[in-house]
Amino acid sequence: MARQKSAQPSIADVAKLAGVSLGTVSNVLNSPDRVKEETARRVHRAIEGLGFVRNDAARQLKAGKSSAIGLVVLDSTNPFFAELSRGAEDSAIESGFQVLIGNSDHDKSREASHLRIFQEQRLSGVLLSPIENASLEIQSLRDVGTHVVIVDQKALPDLCCSVSVDDIAGGEMAVQHLIEQGKKRIAFVGGSLDIVQVADRLQGANLAKLKAGGSVELEAYRAQNQDVISGRMIGRQIISLPEIERPDGVFAANDLLAVGLMQAFVLDNRIRVPQDIAIIGYDDIDFAEAAVVPLSSIKQPAKLLGSTALGLLIDEIENGNTHKHQQITFQPELIVRASTKGSDN
Ligand code: RIB
Repeated sequence: MARQKSAQPSIADVAKLAGVSLGTVSNVLNSPDRVKEETARRVHRAIEGLGFVRNDAARQLKAGKSSAIGLVVLDSTNPFFAELSRGAEDSAIESGFQVLIGNSDHDKSREASHLRIFQEQRLSGVLLSPIENASLEIQSLRDVGTHVVIVDQKALPDLCCSVSVDDIAGGEMAVQHLIEQGKKRIAFVGGSLDIVQVADRLQGANLAKLKAGGSVELEAYRAQNQDVISGRMIGRQIISLPEIERPDGVFAANDLLAVGLMQAFVLDNRIRVPQDIAIIGYDDIDFAEAAVVPLSSIKQPAKLLGSTALGLLIDEIENGNTHKHQQITFQPELIVRASTKGSDN
């Protein structure tokens, strides 16, 4: 016969063992300054003796607000999102909130599943790095009183707050830099153009090409994902081309792709970077500088994106009636390292 699971001790069990009222136990837990020291000691001895654990979800539900904030990112194994999450969490803790993180893995159904759970838990707020347009999900979270801020993409002004980087300017900056190094046949390597950040970076790359007045070619390569393995696969595809058809400069939509491209060029095929093929990435993650050829990149202030988005969310949670939505856009920064500089031959 299955062993009876011992029932969790209740707040009533604690009150009975300590010889106090339910209200006194609640005060010891929530307003200890209202209880005499001796009484509080008796209650804590009963809590330890019974192994009582408070049910915070029930307390928060009764109080009508949760001290947890949800964060849905595309992929937290990407150091960019790890940094962004860290910035959000450090700010949340300063404001008395905890952060619950979910990965959408660029999958709409996974994203919807995380948002549904956050809705059911009645979280106070959610930070969302959306895959595509998420306005319906945002509205249904709002309908149950869960505030939403979009991070890493610009939201429509009347929808919600957002914090992002101007990825069109970043893409143009990356290709302009390759052109200034004398590169003429440029490849753009990125994941699905359903990812707004990737589409905007390619749009910026095309702007730089147009401004070069026909002296530069730009070809886009579709990577399976936005990770190192996908970059290495595209790198092998590029190397398999006849030398005359190969690009002489590559702009990767993020640093993970750039690291994979560099592995294919330098480690697998002894291609000289930047002399034969220059490479520039996007995000400027910590590993960019440590790449086998230090990687030039377009820097995004990942931690600042996270902390700024969290700050807007806390303002909306705590000052809902006076809060005004803001769409904050940071400017990208070109970081030049050995993978592009001095590549004038
Ligand atoms: O994977 C999506 C990319 O967009 C990340 O690398 C980061 O650059 C984000 O902005």
